[in-house]
Amino acid sequence: MKIVKKIFLFLLIALVIAQFFGPEKNEGDLASIDAFLAETNPPEDVKLILKETCFDCHSDVTRYPWYDKITPVNYWLAGHVKDGKKHFNVSNWEGNSVKRKDHKFEELIEMVEDKEMPLESYTWTHSEAKLTDAQIKSVVDWAKLVRAKYALMPKAE
Ligand code: HEC
Repeated sequence: MKIVKKIFLFLLIALVIAQFFGPEKNEGDLASIDAFLAETNPPEDVKLILKETCFDCHSDVTRYPWYDKITPVNYWLAGHVKDGKKHFNVSNWEGNSVKRKDHKFEELIEMVEDKEMPLESYTWTHSEAKLTDAQIKSVVDWAKLVRAKYALMPKAE
């Protein structure tokens, strides 16, 4: 029994020490999102959905929950943000070609329609981020308009 106690104590100390470490924060400039919003022009309801349910992982500005103060939870969250931004980041939207932007919106429609976004692990803790069918329709309708706009633009741009 004594060994179990020792292991438990060791783990406890390791966990306490781990609290001094954490990943780099994703807390960039909120204005970095403006160019994306100006170009894709979402209606107010869609803008709110994007801000509340997507931009935490797909922009340079994450609103961190309290449990992000806990190591290793913070590393787990940072992993999602890093991965999400790698695939789709509205904070560097202008840096993408029209072709890539259009492709991202093609993916976006698919992801939202199939309820793959927001990530399920996000809606566990943000129940309000679970999109209703009406919200999904609003987002998809907007995304289709954006694609129609990109279709009219020179692809090489
Ligand atoms: C908790 C973090 C998180 C949230 C919130 C989130 N995403 Fe994602 N998203 C990811 C991750 C991680 C990936 C990449 C892995 C994957 O495809 O599952 C991704 C992938 C995507 C992609 C695919 C890009 C590509 O080229 O494959 C799109 C588009 C997307 N998300 C849109 C959205 C939209 C729209 C919302 C809001 C309705 C949203 N995401 C909410 C983390 C998130």
